[in-house]
Amino acid sequence: MDVHVNLEGLPLGKEELEACKGNASAALDRLWSGEMDMSGWVKAPVEKDEDALRYLLDVADIIKAEAEMMVVIGIGGSYMGAKAAIEALPKFEPGIDVRFLGINFCTDYYLEILEEVRRRNTIVCVVSKSGNTMEVRTALEVIRPVMIEKYGEEAANKRMIAVTDPENGYLRGEAEKLDLVTLEIPQNIGGRYSMMTAAGLLPMAVAGIDVRELLRGAEKMATSPAWDSYATDYAIARFLMHTKKDKALEAIAFSHSKMGFFGEWIKQLYGESEGKEGKGLWPATLQYSTDLHSMGQFMQEGSPIFFETVMIVDEYDGEVSIPAGPQAGMTVDEMNDAMIEGVIKAHRDGGVPVIEIHIPQLTPFYFGQLVYFLETTCAITAMLMGVNPFNQPGVEAYKKEMRKNCGIED
Ligand code: PA5
Repeated sequence: MDVHVNLEGLPLGKEELEACKGNASAALDRLWSGEMDMSGWVKAPVEKDEDALRYLLDVADIIKAEAEMMVVIGIGGSYMGAKAAIEALPKFEPGIDVRFLGINFCTDYYLEILEEVRRRNTIVCVVSKSGNTMEVRTALEVIRPVMIEKYGEEAANKRMIAVTDPENGYLRGEAEKLDLVTLEIPQNIGGRYSMMTAAGLLPMAVAGIDVRELLRGAEKMATSPAWDSYATDYAIARFLMHTKKDKALEAIAFSHSKMGFFGEWIKQLYGESEGKEGKGLWPATLQYSTDLHSMGQFMQEGSPIFFETVMIVDEYDGEVSIPAGPQAGMTVDEMNDAMIEGVIKAHRDGGVPVIEIHIPQLTPFYFGQLVYFLETTCAITAMLMGVNPFNQPGVEAYKKEMRKNCGIED
C-alpha cells in the first residue's frame, strides 16, 4: 500500500464531486503539459538528472568528511523542506548536524549559531532561489567574516556553498565573485516546490538521509495509476469545503511527533500557493494527542469554520509495550491507534468533516510520495480556486518594502 487518502464521510454529494472532476483533471493535465511557469517540479521525478544527483551526493560526502556541522542559510522554501525531512526521517548513514540561519532577524538566535560556528568545524550552505532575500543576504554578510576569522579568506570561501538560480540574483553574483562551489535550483521550480531539488536534497544528504529513496517515492507517486484520482479527489474536496461549505480553515493534524515541522512546510506550501485574491484555506496544524488537550475542545464544539485532515503514520519500526495497569499488554502504538480512531469518530459525530491521509511508514520513500502528492493536490486546488499556485505577490510586496527600509534599491 502507498500513501493514500480517505475522503469517506465528507458532507459532499456525489454530484458536487463529479461536477468538479473535469476541471480538476484539466488542471492536472495542464500541470503535466509543462506550459505553466514554475511547474518544473511536476515532471522532475520522472525526468531524473542523474549527473546532477551524483554531483550533489559527492558534494555531500565531502561536506560530511570535512565538517561536523553545516549551517544552511535560507528561508521559506529554501529551508523548510530540508528541516522537515531532517526532523522526520531516519538516517541511513552517519550524517552531520545541520543548523539553520537566515530564518529570522532575532539577535539571540544569531548569537547562538555564531557561537557554534566559532566552536565547531563548520561548512556554510547558502540557499536562495531568487538570491536576493534580505534574511539570507543578512545572514551571509554576518557569517562570512566569522568564517574568515576562523579559517582565513581562501579556506573560508572553500567552506561556503551556494544553492541558487543558474543565472540570476545577488547570490549567483557573489558565488561567482568568491568562486564558491554552487549547485543549481532549476529555473522553472519555485521556493516552496523545491524540496526535491538541491535546496532540500543537499542538507538532507549531509544529515544522512537516503535521498535516492525519497526521489524513488516521488517517482512512484508520479507514475502510480491511483495517484491521479487521489490528488484530484483531495483537491476537489478541499476546494468544495472552502467554496460550498464555507470552511475558512483546514486543521491538519499529525499522529506522529516527528512530523511537527512537516506541518510548517505544508503551511507554506498551501498558504502561499492558495492565499491570494481574497481566496484560500488557512492551513493550521495540530499535534495529536498533545493538542487534544489544548485545542480538542474547540475542535469538538467550537465555531465550525474548519474541516480536519488527519495524517496517520500506519506502522512504526520499534515497539513500546505497556507492562501494567488497565492497558497492560497493549503497545504505545496501539494506544495511538485507539486515540486516532477515537478522535476521528468523536469529531465526525460532532459534525466535523474529517479527511484521512495514510502514510504506511515514516521512511524516505513514503515521505517522497507524500511530498509529491501534497504539492500536486495544492497546485490543483489553487487552480480550481482560479489563482496561480506558483507566484507569491504578497511575499514579494513585503520583501520590496523591507529593501526600501534598508535603503537597498530593487
Ligand atoms: O515559495 C517561495 O517562493 C518563497 O516562499 C521563497 O521560498 C522564500 O521567500 C525564500 O525565497 P528565496 O529562496 O528566493 O530566498
